[in-house]
Amino acid sequence: MENIIVLDFGGQYSQLIARRIRELRVFSELVSYDTPIEKIKAKKPKGIILSGSPYSITAKERDCIINKELFDLDIPILGICYGMQLIAHILNGKVTDVGTNEYGKTKINIDTSSLLFDGLQSVETCWMSHRDSVCLLPPFFRTIASTSNLPIAGIEEPFKKIYGIQFHPEVIHTPSGMDILKNFLFKICKCSPTWTMVSIIEKEVCDIKEKSSGGKVICALSGGVDSSVAAILVNKAVGERLTCIFVDHGMLRKGEAEQVEKTFKDNFKINLVMIRAQERFLSKLKGVIDPEQKRKIIGTEFIRIFEEEAKKIKDANYLVQGTLYSDVIESGTKNAAKIKSHHNVGGLPDDMQLKLIEPLRMLFKDEVRVLGIELGLPEEIVLRQPFPGPGLAIRIIGEVTRKRLEILKKADSIVVEEIKRAGLYNKIWQSFAILPAIKSVGVMGDERTYEYPIVVRAVSSEDAMTADWVRLPYKVLEKLSSRIINEVEGVNRVVYDVSSKPPSTIEWE
Ligand code: XMP
Repeated sequence: MENIIVLDFGGQYSQLIARRIRELRVFSELVSYDTPIEKIKAKKPKGIILSGSPYSITAKERDCIINKELFDLDIPILGICYGMQLIAHILNGKVTDVGTNEYGKTKINIDTSSLLFDGLQSVETCWMSHRDSVCLLPPFFRTIASTSNLPIAGIEEPFKKIYGIQFHPEVIHTPSGMDILKNFLFKICKCSPTWTMVSIIEKEVCDIKEKSSGGKVICALSGGVDSSVAAILVNKAVGERLTCIFVDHGMLRKGEAEQVEKTFKDNFKINLVMIRAQERFLSKLKGVIDPEQKRKIIGTEFIRIFEEEAKKIKDANYLVQGTLYSDVIESGTKNAAKIKSHHNVGGLPDDMQLKLIEPLRMLFKDEVRVLGIELGLPEEIVLRQPFPGPGLAIRIIGEVTRKRLEILKKADSIVVEEIKRAGLYNKIWQSFAILPAIKSVGVMGDERTYEYPIVVRAVSSEDAMTADWVRLPYKVLEKLSSRIINEVEGVNRVVYDVSSKPPSTIEWE
């Protein structure tokens, strides 16, 4: 498989570079800048991209310097932003701190005789975000782009196929950015656009068959897109040798357990063990109001049940996990600015003695969704909004009781239904209901009521690290309010959460 390596110096857009290349149907992998050169060579890349970085070449502690031999491998190199400065610095050019940041859309003059800019206009718009700049070219290089502030905004050494650009071709604010990447991939690196989801399926199925070598495989199925797609892929490879375990802790959305069971049993002929453990979880949660304690109880109980069931499957020695590429990057790259904890199903312990099979570890979330569709999973599962492991328990403030769980399930299903009806479900990161631990006075018929309110929350987000509340149309809010109050016994008021993250969080607990 042809591969373009993106050497990651911790730039804000490093992941995006790899994704853009994959969109052009060439496989691309993000690896840390300090990966030993032998490892890079072993991957036989068709090209190498040096990413941007929060570091500065001109700072004293030159943290991100790389092995100079990289430029002698006879592999085309493209440096983006910091990557271009690094090329200049290492190959005996010069980089200075110009004293001001250049940030935003900029007009750029392009030398269209460079293969990198083949087919572009002589003046283009690009996205800049830098403070340092190249002030002296390395020997044998020439300038191929400039702006009114920046005499050297692009460089090339066409014989060694080393290119650098100060701007970011991977962001949408550089309209011809994809054409520049295409030129690098197809005209300079001579890649062919052959990487597809089907090729991923074939390769993974082969790898899993080989890796699991006749042993039994288990998978903790959560019903979310990642574990579902992982399970189907493994099932294609090992068939009967796979058993999926679905633990219904009772705090799932309405109809969720039934839908997962039906989908997997009817469509995929998968060995599926459904564990109905609602009572077990509810009794453990009795009287508990502290959010962290709730999470711990649910996590621990989940692992216990999973281990009990796994033991019943003789000779099981492999475990499937739906780990995604973003998890791999976030836990494996020293340079990423945002580090989030790695959510595995229930946080399975390291000493489980099961070998891991992680078929999605090279894929981004949206690629997994496409793969899910290709594998025949219904859209209801593939396009489902994220749902927290501890489920509705962290949306019930205060004690989780059977009655309160019923109230929230009904209210939540109305929220999902109405958001879908308004055509908003796939445009929103998450939309759901919360049950607070207060009551208020209302009037129904001619009677006084004293019941719970329901909080509706809808947020937009890219990655759940930050989120904004969605400006839902009043018509939708009106419908939600009247349906929830009329149809859910025990509720007499509906409020809408208008807080963003930060300072709030998406979930209430
Ligand atoms: P917060 O509330 O921290 O949530 O803004 C960020 C995102 O993470 C989800 N979430 C969880 N997912 N296990 C999970 O698998 C958890 O314990 C958990 N807690 C929060 C939340 O739904 C949101 O998408």
